[in-house]
Amino acid sequence: MPTVFVLNGPNLNLLGTREPEIYGRLTLEEIAAGCRETGRRLGLDIVFRQTNSEGELVTWIQEAIGEAAALVINAAAYTHTSVAVLDALRAFSGPIVEVHLSNPHRREGFRARSYVSPVAEGVICGFGGTGYRLALEAVAEILRDRPRTSHRET
Ligand code: DQA
Repeated sequence: MPTVFVLNGPNLNLLGTREPEIYGRLTLEEIAAGCRETGRRLGLDIVFRQTNSEGELVTWIQEAIGEAAALVINAAAYTHTSVAVLDALRAFSGPIVEVHLSNPHRREGFRARSYVSPVAEGVICGFGGTGYRLALEAVAEILRDRPRTSHRET
């Protein structure tokens, strides 16, 4: 069963109470549970993590290089600032899907720039927690269409 890392950046641990008019009322734990449920349905082994630290996010992306067939990432504010995240993502050869709960393009101008988008197969934003399910469905389809022969599949 392919492993998919679902990585989440800073402040997403506050979901549920953090600006719910922008990010919705789902907690990160509820989103994680939804991802695991979707993973079961699609035959994907989900590793779901959140960190407030840029370095830890980079370390987990590097870990994905050996362990994951695909990456779903909501790098949160690091999306707009982190060349380190971009460089780590460049080293990952599987499909990457970028997710945001809100639609950054409807918000402040600085959120329109993403260091993740240049290496992402696609971006899902503006659909709240549902975006994670849509991202996993996209990943499952990409992996079906582009089967890989590496150990990541097993
Ligand atoms: C976010 C959007 C980012 O601009 C913001 O910094 C976040 C969350 C989202 O999921 O909508 O922390 O990635």
